[in-house]
Amino acid sequence: MLSCVCVLLLAATALGHLDEATLDAQWEEWKTIHRREYNGLDEEGIRKAIWEKNMRMIEAHNQEAVLGIHSYELGINHLGDMTSEEVVEKMTGLRTPLNPDRNFSMALDDDVSKLPKSIDYRKKGMVTPVKDQGTCGSCWAFSSAGALEGQLAKTTGQLVDLSPQNLVDCVKENDGCGGGYMTNAFRYVQENGGIDSEESYPYVGEDQPCRYNSTGMAAQCKGYMEIPKGNEHALAVALFKVGPVSVGIDAMQTSFQYYKRGVYYDQNCDKDDVNHAVLAVGYGVTPKGKKYWIVKNSWSERWGNKGYILMARNRGNLCGIANLASYPIM
Ligand SMILES: *[C@@H]1O[C@H](CO)[C@@H](O)[C@H](O)[C@H]1NC(C)=O
Ligand SMILES: *[C@@H]1O[C@H](CO)[C@@H](O)[C@H](O)[C@H]1NC(C)=O
Repeated sequence: MLSCVCVLLLAATALGHLDEATLDAQWEEWKTIHRREYNGLDEEGIRKAIWEKNMRMIEAHNQEAVLGIHSYELGINHLGDMTSEEVVEKMTGLRTPLNPDRNFSMALDDDVSKLPKSIDYRKKGMVTPVKDQGTCGSCWAFSSAGALEGQLAKTTGQLVDLSPQNLVDCVKENDGCGGGYMTNAFRYVQENGGIDSEESYPYVGEDQPCRYNSTGMAAQCKGYMEIPKGNEHALAVALFKVGPVSVGIDAMQTSFQYYKRGVYYDQNCDKDDVNHAVLAVGYGVTPKGKKYWIVKNSWSERWGNKGYILMARNRGNLCGIANLASYPIM
């Protein structure tokens, strides 16, 4: 009980420095950095109240992290004046089919002892720079393009940005900025005979008519495989044997929105409410023995740790990371 009292006292002291004057100054600074303009004082008042609530939550969380209560830190970012509901509504876009025709025929070796302790495909030149999907529900297109980029690099040695816009505009089974699912994108690339490069089909973050042009085609795929639902071991095996893997997660928590560094774990994350698509690009373990997945998001480098998050591994399929995992076959 004593430690509880200490925590409360420390938290209260820490929050003390977030007084109104300091917050006002920080609000002005934040608006300038993120180029925010509002329609009058009413809207600004509402946005500032959301931002202030987020700032206090972040401060309180970080004080607890110092005391060892959390394994990760938070930080304010460009999503600072949005609620987590707004972020999920505007910046995710994973739509799971009602009756997904899951292809679980993953023919991967099951031997745990052969798995290395850590894998990081960024270090193997198989991961392109972090992108920004903007306010378009195209996470599924960035996740799919990222998995294809990994296989392209693995098979050709060339790291090329592929076109999420090509997928947004042309995958009929998906709904563009309205949301979509990764295996539909892989099947489109297979049936279409390829996907354009980002250079030839640049991202605009809005729905457009399909403008695929085989002249700009940069990669093809022969199909896809899906990881058995909820099986984190199979996800690790796929990462080891194949490369980066498209995954779906629950991105609804405020802690996810403002993640900064460390190994993310929020028990409120709902593995049965997977709403955001991202890319697993490896796994590892901290010196203290905490295992994690290395995950690339598409919310720009301003989010997370330069666009990445480390998510707790083997902690009950955190946020449903192994529920909707798949990869293309090149
Ligand atoms: C495809 O791209 C090539 C080269 O840029 C161009 O000449 C051709 O007209 C394009 N085709 C279509 C259908 O837009
Ligand atoms: C499902 O997996 C099998 C391999 O076992 C493959 O032949 C088939 O093309 C896959 N289906 C799709 C839709 O990729």
